[in-house]
Amino acid sequence: MCGIVGYVGPRDSQAILLAGLARLEYRGYDSAGIAVIDGAGELDMRKRAGKLQVLRDDLTAHPMPDGTTGIGHTRWATHGGPTDANAHPHLADDDKLAVIHNGIIENFSELKAELLSEGYTFRSETDTEVAAVLLGREYQASGDLVAAFRTVVSRLDGAFTLLAMHRDQPGLVVGARRNSPLVIGLGEGENFLGSDVAAFVEHTRNALAIGQDEIVAITPAGVEVTDFSGAPVEVEPFEVVWDASAAEKGGWSSFMAKEVSEEPEAVANTVRGRLHDGTVTIPELDGMDELFTGIRRIVVIACGTAAYAGQTGKYALEQWTRIPVDVELAHEFRYRDPVIGEDTLVVSISQSGETMDTLMAVKYAREQGAKTLSICNTQGATIPRESDAVIYTHAGPEVAVASTKAFVAQITALYLLALHVARLRGTISVGEQATHVRELEAVPAKIQRVLEEEQTHIEQFSHWMADTQSVLFLGRHVGYPIALEGALKLKEISYIHAEGFAAGELKHGPIALIEPGQPVFVIVPSPRESAELHKKVVSNIQEIRARGARVIAVAEEGDAAVLPFADEVLRIPLAGPLFEPLLAVVPLHIFAMGLATAKGLDVDQPRNLAKSVTVE
Ligand code: F6R
Repeated sequence: MCGIVGYVGPRDSQAILLAGLARLEYRGYDSAGIAVIDGAGELDMRKRAGKLQVLRDDLTAHPMPDGTTGIGHTRWATHGGPTDANAHPHLADDDKLAVIHNGIIENFSELKAELLSEGYTFRSETDTEVAAVLLGREYQASGDLVAAFRTVVSRLDGAFTLLAMHRDQPGLVVGARRNSPLVIGLGEGENFLGSDVAAFVEHTRNALAIGQDEIVAITPAGVEVTDFSGAPVEVEPFEVVWDASAAEKGGWSSFMAKEVSEEPEAVANTVRGRLHDGTVTIPELDGMDELFTGIRRIVVIACGTAAYAGQTGKYALEQWTRIPVDVELAHEFRYRDPVIGEDTLVVSISQSGETMDTLMAVKYAREQGAKTLSICNTQGATIPRESDAVIYTHAGPEVAVASTKAFVAQITALYLLALHVARLRGTISVGEQATHVRELEAVPAKIQRVLEEEQTHIEQFSHWMADTQSVLFLGRHVGYPIALEGALKLKEISYIHAEGFAAGELKHGPIALIEPGQPVFVIVPSPRESAELHKKVVSNIQEIRARGARVIAVAEEGDAAVLPFADEVLRIPLAGPLFEPLLAVVPLHIFAMGLATAKGLDVDQPRNLAKSVTVE
């Protein structure tokens, strides 16, 4: 939530800041603003409610002087509605100081009361302005921006990434982070700060990850990182593995369309270099066998789509490793005194690696003595840094708010993990392992076939369904989390009521929702691989069809049993039972996108949402 960018160097910064914000807009898009120290040494600021384009148009119509030191922000509102006044940057110290912020400052009321009692005034309803005014006061006292910044961040409770610059110290941007993301981009004679590397990848792929409770000062000449007390700290360099074009739309109608088309690649890149001669080798887990050998339980924690990936992965994890697996929503896990300890492996799943609910749950698990492993798609993110081990998904940057390619990559990574642990514990034969590895290797081409053979068909009928008020999704076994994911994606981007159910649960209540014409997607298991379950699901289809449901079956090629009862059949290639979800979810992603497009909605930036949920 909230995108942050900072620049110091020889170039004029406005274009750099605006381009960085465009790449970060997925983090929040209800207002945007920039501040620069111009050639005359003045601090200029412009901010507007609305999407970044509103700010761009305003700057085009009324240009602002440019300069070589600047900060920029795109907002997802927490304190105070999305108005011009509440947009960032916030100014203080007679408008000589500019501050931007991501997160929530929990003790802002106390700090504000203190400042009000001293006669300071405020122009917004935000917690951020409190930090800005406090920083102005401290700067007045010391005349040293870094020292003043240190004093201020040490007084803040909550989660924050803060960036600040002062008119009297051109060529300097200071930043700090606590439970909120901030990375440094290292250029030649110029340096960058960003909420993530997308902010600066167009200029440099050399990055530094800043740790928890650390402060950074960037100048054109260098970068200094300290802790909140001012002691220098080591920073971890990394090279961004993708280039700027990976985060561009590249001719697609939307990022979501591009990202759905990249689902085959997301799986292929996640297994690349990790499958050898019928076995799984995960180089990141070398020398970490003790993480897996003594465990008696696995708890998977995640939110939203990532949690559905976890629910899907549970079947393979349990079947192959014989370790009991619980999947929990991260925000529920942490607050219910869960029974975990040294014999528990807590696996967190997060595309962004910054989701606050998941991060807090990981920290909590570590405090309880559990071992922690994260599955993450973002280099330099916080959750992997807070975990004992990480398996990166290599889905590439996911820009559309609704997660698609990361979902299939997360399931793939869970399967790699399951096979790795099963091999270590000897719970799977060499032959079985080789079969699963072959299945995994075949997935990208099979997803590609779904895209090639079904996309047009699905898009057509999703357009016919543009007036639909409600859609239900049913699945059993691994089809159940896929039904949940299908429903989430639809409600998220098309604003249509959608619910996913375990098909077996139908007769225990949800069947009352079925009335003539009610569209119901049914994920049908393979008649070849899961004959028993297949029969049961076909019976479920008959039950809802008898009550007038309009059935859209996602079924294996050649499955004729569904034909008499389905209004539409979306075909997926043959695959082993545990691999079907990686194929069955693709039509659901296409459908959600098609229907939202038919309704004329922005599929990349759905209302009220932001991609990276960095507040609890
Ligand atoms: C839904 C979606 C969200 C995320 C969830 C977790 O399409 O994108 O439900 O899956 O907010 O995000 P990460 O994976 O970044 O922790």
